[in-house]
Amino acid sequence: GVRASFVVLANRLPVDRVSMPDGSTAWRTSPGGLVTALEPVMRRQGGAWIGWSGAPDEKLDPFEHDGLQLVPIPIKADEVEEYYEGFSNSTLWPLYHDVIAPPEFHREWFDAYVVVNRRFAEFAAEIAEPNAVVWVQDYQLQLVPQMLRELRPDLRIGFFLHVPFPPVELYTQLPWRRRILEGLLGADIVGFQTTGAAQNFVRLVRLRVGHKTHRDTVYLPDGRSVVAKAYPISIDTGYFEELARQPETEARASEIRASLGNPRFVLLGVDRLDYTKGLPQRLRAFGELASEGLLDPADAVFVQVAPPSRERVDQYRRLRDEIDRIVGRINGDVGRIGQPPITYLHSSYPRAEMAALYRAADVMVVTPLRDGMNLVAKEYVATRYLDSGALVLSEFAGAAAELKQAYLVNPYDINGMKATMLKAISDPPKEKSKRMRAMRRQVKEHDIETWARTFLEDLAQVREPHGKRT
Ligand code: G6P
Repeated sequence: GVRASFVVLANRLPVDRVSMPDGSTAWRTSPGGLVTALEPVMRRQGGAWIGWSGAPDEKLDPFEHDGLQLVPIPIKADEVEEYYEGFSNSTLWPLYHDVIAPPEFHREWFDAYVVVNRRFAEFAAEIAEPNAVVWVQDYQLQLVPQMLRELRPDLRIGFFLHVPFPPVELYTQLPWRRRILEGLLGADIVGFQTTGAAQNFVRLVRLRVGHKTHRDTVYLPDGRSVVAKAYPISIDTGYFEELARQPETEARASEIRASLGNPRFVLLGVDRLDYTKGLPQRLRAFGELASEGLLDPADAVFVQVAPPSRERVDQYRRLRDEIDRIVGRINGDVGRIGQPPITYLHSSYPRAEMAALYRAADVMVVTPLRDGMNLVAKEYVATRYLDSGALVLSEFAGAAAELKQAYLVNPYDINGMKATMLKAISDPPKEKSKRMRAMRRQVKEHDIETWARTFLEDLAQVREPHGKRT
């Protein structure tokens, strides 16, 4: 069987299944945020990745792809409903994103979450070599650190939460709050996107579990300690800049602008179709600017790329209908023949096409109501190698803590967003390039490599793992 000294656990494997022209299927490394983040580290360290293929009831043997050792974990159809669509995405996801949608609490969902988390822990316990480093990812697997520690006290266990961690007042709604906190405390390091999230966690552990804490450290009754702090995730900045600099990318960007009718201003949004992303608010703000004549629809167009996501979950279906209506209304009201103000695309694109879109965009509009980090904002910045362009960014994205020179907005404030979008369009180029230069420096100095290295170095430095103590 597979053995590895570095093991990543995530709900999903870092690959998507694609159908080939000859009718067969193949794996392709997926373009998602988490994958983008860990792929380079994995390759360098030669580790194994345990995750789900995305298909219910599928049993697959471990396989190699692109130099990565992948270990698929089976998830049954009813577990997909209860663990993935249910507890992960209808309980935890809305709860952790400030209850933008009401979280649903069902005891059977939590039971399935326990069962699947245990399966992940058991797979990792099998695969990990003695004293291996195991890095558990995200909200779908919060019980794994504790379960794994019980099975394998020799391991160093890290956990990283990609999504926000809510304030104590919201978190305490969760009937299983204590189980989850104890699950996380099985790790040596619990990493968060922002200092605020880490502080929420430490405060909760102190107030609700009753453990002693000091700054970023939690002291457990058994003598072990756990560090909770911020490790803001990033992107492969060099890769995106290089991609952007390629002549084919620039050519494709011109082609995109031409297809849009060569408007003076292209505004761009790129988001998974999710209610946390603030899509209705942003489209409404743009729509009002167009209908009030503050932006001429012949002059300024909005391109919204929004690949559908979690389509079997109710809230996501409803959102899709809502956005369909908003886009239809705006295009119907202010569009002209051959000139829709909004181009709305329900698909995901390869990174080369994304880079061309970023290059084609004068203003990138990222306005989530709550977001752990938001890597799209960083990707846009990375591609602006001439320091042109402008980033409109929500205060409520983790990225706002780093990209301070963005045009920051409160996405709930439609008038404020309208004014800021206009400013981002019309500010003098000098002002824009000053801001962009500073942000580019930030994402260059803090790329995905730094993120992973910092976390793993910290993990290597925690006290000797339990099993080795005499
Ligand atoms: C967010 C989460 C990831 C998740 C991704 C896509 O970025 O933090 O854990 O994989 O969304 O969502 P999905 O449910 O399709 O995996």
